[in-house]
Parts: sequence; C-alpha cells; structure tokens
Amino acid sequence: MSKWLEGRVVGQKRWTERLCSLQVAAPLGPFAAGQFTKLALDVGGERIARPYSLVNPPGSEPQEFYYNVVLAGPLSPRLAALGAGEPVFVAPNAAGFLVLAEVPDAENLWLISTGTGLGPFLSILRTETPWQRFKRVTLVHATRTAAEQVYHELLKSVGAARGEQFSRVAFVSREASAGALAGRVPAAIRDGRLERVAQAELSAERSHAMLCGNPAMVADVTAALVERGMRKHRRRAPGHISVETYW
Ligand SMILES: Cc1cc2nc3c(=O)[nH]c(=O)nc-3n(C[C@H](O)[C@H](O)[C@H](O)COP(=O)(O)OP(=O)(O)OC[C@H]3O[C@@H](n4cnc5c(N)ncnc54)[C@H](O)[C@@H]3O)c2cc1C
Ligand SMILES: NC(=O)c1ccc[n+]([C@@H]2O[C@H](COP(=O)([O-])OP(=O)(O)OC[C@H]3O[C@@H](n4cnc5c(N)ncnc54)[C@H](OP(=O)(O)O)[C@@H]3O)[C@@H](O)[C@H]2O)c1
Repeated sequence: MSKWLEGRVVGQKRWTERLCSLQVAAPLGPFAAGQFTKLALDVGGERIARPYSLVNPPGSEPQEFYYNVVLAGPLSPRLAALGAGEPVFVAPNAAGFLVLAEVPDAENLWLISTGTGLGPFLSILRTETPWQRFKRVTLVHATRTAAEQVYHELLKSVGAARGEQFSRVAFVSREASAGALAGRVPAAIRDGRLERVAQAELSAERSHAMLCGNPAMVADVTAALVERGMRKHRRRAPGHISVETYW
C-alpha cells in the first residue's frame, strides 16, 4: 500500500490572518477522536509532512484540520494557499494517545487547550464517550485575542445538546474580552478562579485533565496540577494528566 493517500481539498476557512481550517476528502482509515494524521505537500522535489489533529469526529467526512499559519514554516503557509479541488497528501492512518481510551475513569473531565490545541477536543466533544463516562466535561481554550476564540457555533451546539454536563471557559490574555477570563490558565488554577467559573472540581480525587497546545502551557499547567496532587498518566502508573504538545 502506498505511504500516502491523495486527498482533495474541499474547503478552507480563514478565521483570522493566521488561523485556518482545512477540509480534505481522503479515505483515511478508522481513527479515535483526539488522534492526528499527517498532511504533506511536495516542495522543490521534497515531500514536506507534518502532523495535524483531526477536528471532525470518527466516521464523518470530510477530514478537518485546524491550524496556525507559521509564517516562516515550510508547510503551513502552503496549506493555507490551497483552494478547493487542489491535491494534498494525507497519511493513511491516524495515531496518538490523547484519546479517551487512554483516560482512566473520573467524575470530571477537563480539556485544556491553547490556540490550535483546541482541535482534538472538538473531535472528542462530538463523540458520545465523554458524555457517557464523565459527570462533567469542561473545555478550556486560551488565546491571545478574542478573534482566536473560534468554532463558537459548533461549541454552542455542543452546549445546547449537553446542558449542564458541559461547561466552557475562554481565556483571552492580550486584550479585554467580555465573557472570557483574563491572564493565563495556571494562575487561574492556583487562585481557584477556574474551578469557580467552571463550577467543577479539579482534583486528583475526582478529575482527569487532557492538555494540548503550546508546550510551555502544557508544562506550566502540569506543574499547577501537580501542586494539587495530580500526576501524569502512564499506562503502567495511572494518573490524572494526559498531554500532547504541538512543537
Ligand atoms: C502530534 C502533533 C499534532 C499537531 N497538530 C497540529 C494541529 O492540529 N494544528 C496545528 O496548527 N499544528 C499542529 N501541529 C504542528 C504542525 O505539525 C506543524 O509543526 C505546524 O503546522 C507548522 O508547520 P510548518 O512546516 O509551517 O513549520 P514547522 O517547521 O513545523 O514549525 C516551525 C515553528 O512553528 C511553531 N509552531 C508549530 N506549530 C504551531 C502551532 N500549531 N501554533 C503556533 N506555532 C506553531 C513552533 O515554534 C515551530 O518550531 C502538531 C504537531 C504535533 C507534534
Ligand atoms: N497569535 C498571534 O497573533 C501570533 C503572532 C505572531 C507569532 N505568533 C507565534 O505563534 C506561536 C503560537 O501562538 P498562538 O497565538 O497560537 O499561541 P500562544 O502563544 O501559545 O498563546 C495562546 C495562549 O496561551 C497562553 N500561554 C502562552 N504560554 C503559556 C504558558 N507557559 N502557560 C500558560 N499559558 C500560556 C498565552 O498567554 P500570553 O498571551 O500571556 O502569552 C495565550 O493566552 C507563538 O510561538 C508565537 O510566537 C503568534
């Protein structure tokens, strides 16, 4: 079997100058919500490939990817230039451990993201599993600006369908924004603001946190959770924190 599927772009949404969602038709193998596959383009005779989380839930079409245009990057500006009908290579299988099958039972599930790290949680939230397994599911999304708080309509529909089982906390750090907390997530964990606003407990006894996005955020939130007695989850040593970093 060929190492790459030949996908076709079916849509490209530009949320801001630097944030896009790419929709691709490609016969990807079965995947679990939270996993990533690879996208690739041929540039100057070389195939440039990078991992991207799947935003759509398993079993749906097209495949969707939410990504940041890194101006000096070799691949992401080229993905952003693609229009409907153009080809893009897709790795045939997805991978990754930021999935609910790797998460031990708990009362409260916390999905904590910065920037494009929101993507895998959008897939997880559109499956039945979190709603069957957890009493409360809290999505935290931290961005620099309010314009980067994307997928609002999708998240509103998750909220409408799931009622009080779901809460959503936005952080906007570099401008004032109504309805969003100011500052960063670790400070709001330490001073209790995050739990107050989410009305859910963040503790080793009752919670599991999945973290995705900026590696500095992942490290700093992990440290704030460790101060609360939570620890990283490993298959052989079950814990309360699962992570994926994007760079
Ligand atoms: C498991 C995994 C899943 C990923 N999923 C996504 C995803 O769903 N969406 C996404 O946008 N990126 C994702 N990434 C990052 C992605 O693979 C690329 O690195 C990114 O799109 C930039 O590609 P590039 O070739 O343009 O530049 P690269 O040479 O790959 O990166 C250059 C620099 O850009 C910065 N950077 C990389 N990714 C980001 C980002 N997302 N936001 C801001 N700065 C970044 C880093 O400083 C990096 O060193 C993922 C990475 C990993 C490891
Ligand atoms: N977004 C832009 O307009 C922009 C422009 C130029 C370049 N970039 C580059 O793109 C990369 C990613 O940018 P991004 O906007 O997607 O995301 P980002 O820099 O990861 O910021 C997203 C959110 O994460 C917060 N954050 C950053 N470090 C953190 C930490 N250690 N602990 C907790 N929270 C933390 C930020 O707060 P703070 O605001 O307090 O940092 C912000 O609220 C960066 O490396 C940046 O250099 C982004």
